[in-house]
Amino acid sequence: MNAPEKHWTLLKSSDVHGDWLAAHWMPFTGNRDFKANPRLFGAAKGAYYQTLDGRQVFDGLSGLWCVGLGHGRQELVDAISRQAAQLDYSPAFQFGHPASFELANRIVSRMPAGSDLNRVFFTGSGSEAADTSLKMARAYWRAKGQGSKTRLIGRVKGYHGVNFGGISVGGLPANRKLFGQGIEADHLPHTQPANGSFHRGMPPPQMTLAEELLNLINLHDASNIAAVIVEPFAGSAGVIIPPQGYLQRLREICTQHHILLIFDEVISGFGRSGAWTGAEAFGVTPDLLNFAKQVTNGVQPLGGVVAKQDIYDTFMAAGGPDYMLEFAHGYTYSAHPVACAAGIAALELMEKEDGLQRVRELAPHLERAVHGLQGVKHVADVRNFGLAAGITVLSMPGEPARRPYEVAMRMFAKGFYVRYGGDTIQLAPPFISTPAEIDRLVAALAETFEEQP
Ligand SMILES: Cc1ncc(COP(=O)(O)O)c(C=O)c1O
Repeated sequence: MNAPEKHWTLLKSSDVHGDWLAAHWMPFTGNRDFKANPRLFGAAKGAYYQTLDGRQVFDGLSGLWCVGLGHGRQELVDAISRQAAQLDYSPAFQFGHPASFELANRIVSRMPAGSDLNRVFFTGSGSEAADTSLKMARAYWRAKGQGSKTRLIGRVKGYHGVNFGGISVGGLPANRKLFGQGIEADHLPHTQPANGSFHRGMPPPQMTLAEELLNLINLHDASNIAAVIVEPFAGSAGVIIPPQGYLQRLREICTQHHILLIFDEVISGFGRSGAWTGAEAFGVTPDLLNFAKQVTNGVQPLGGVVAKQDIYDTFMAAGGPDYMLEFAHGYTYSAHPVACAAGIAALELMEKEDGLQRVRELAPHLERAVHGLQGVKHVADVRNFGLAAGITVLSMPGEPARRPYEVAMRMFAKGFYVRYGGDTIQLAPPFISTPAEIDRLVAALAETFEEQP
C-alpha cells in the first residue's frame, strides 16, 4: 500500500486515498461507503471535532456517549502522561498498582447510598464488562451450590456489547444474526412505546412489561435462571426509557425469585442520567452494575463491574486455600494504570465542574428542543432522558436504516455529528454544551428531515 507522503499527523483530506484506507477493517461501519467518502477527524477541542480540512463539527453524541466533559481536557492529558511516564504498564494479574485501588474507591463512593455496591472488577471495555457480569452471575450461584442457575435473561432491543455473552442477552437482531449459537438466554419484551407516543422522559406505568419476567420464570423455573440484565435506559437501540415503576418491579421479582439483577450502565452511568448512576436516577439498585465509556471521559478504554459485597464475599468464601484464584477471569488490560489514572482525573473533573448539575440543567432544554421535532417530516417518535434523546425515523419501504443514514450524512456536511442506528437518530450532546448549541443541533436536524424526499 502506498503511504501518503506526509507524516500521518499532518494529513489533509486530499492526501488520503483508498489504497491507504484499505488496510483498516473498520468496526460498525459501512467500509465500502466510508472508503469511497472518508470522514476523518484530525483534532478535537471542547464540544467540536475538526476534520482534516479544518471544518468544525459539533459532537452531538459525545463521541460514542463517552466524552461528556468535552475533548482535549488538559487535566486528563496531564494525568495520562504523568502515569505513562511513571508506570506505563503493570501486570494485571497477581500484582497491583495504586491507581486501580484509588479509582475503585472513588467509583464505590459514587454508587447509590446504602447500596452495598462496593467491589469493583475492571475490564477494558463495556463489552468485557457485560461478559464479566454474566460470568460472575453464573459463578456466584455455583459457589452457593446452585449450579443449575445458568440461564441469562436480557431484553429485546437491549445492547450489551458484542462479545458472545453480550450478544446472547442482547436484543438487536442485526448484532446477533451473523454469529450462530449464543449462550443460554431468553428475553423480556422491549419497552419502546408505539410510534407517535412522544413521551417526555419516562412513559406512564405499563406493568405487563415487567410482569413478563414472571412468565419467563414460569417457563424456565427460577432454579435455572442466574440473572436478568437490562440497561436502565437503552441507548444504542435509540434511547428507550423504562415506563414508570418498571425497574422497581423487575427488582421485586428478581429479589423474590433469587435472581441477580444486572444494570448495564455503560451509557447511563457517570453522568448521562443526571446522577452518578442510572440506579440512582431511577431509584432502583441492582446486584451488579456495569460501567465504561464516561468513566474516563473516553480518553482511555476502561470498563468494569461493581458487585455487591455479598457477591464478592461468596466468591471469597468458596475460594479454597488463600493462594488460589477465587474468580478465574480477567484481562491483560484490566485496571490498566494509564486508564485508571484517566478515570481518577475524569471523576475529579466531573466534581470540579459539577457535571451532574450541568446535565440536570441541560436535560429539560434538550427535552423541549427534541420534542419540538414532533410534526416534522419523517419523525415518527421522540424519546429522552437526562442528556440523551432518540428519534425514530419513518422508514423507506424495505430500507429501515436508509433514511437515518442519509440524515446523519447530511448533518455531517452541515457540521454536526449525530449517530444513526436502525431506524433511529441518537443524540447525546456533551455536558459542556450550551443551550444555544443544543438548539442549533436540533434545528439542523429539523431542517435536514424536511429536506429528505
Ligand atoms: C449498554 C452498553 N453496554 C455495552 C456496550 C459495549 O461497550 P464497548 O463498545 O466499550 O465494548 C455499550 C456500547 O455502546 C453499551 O451502550
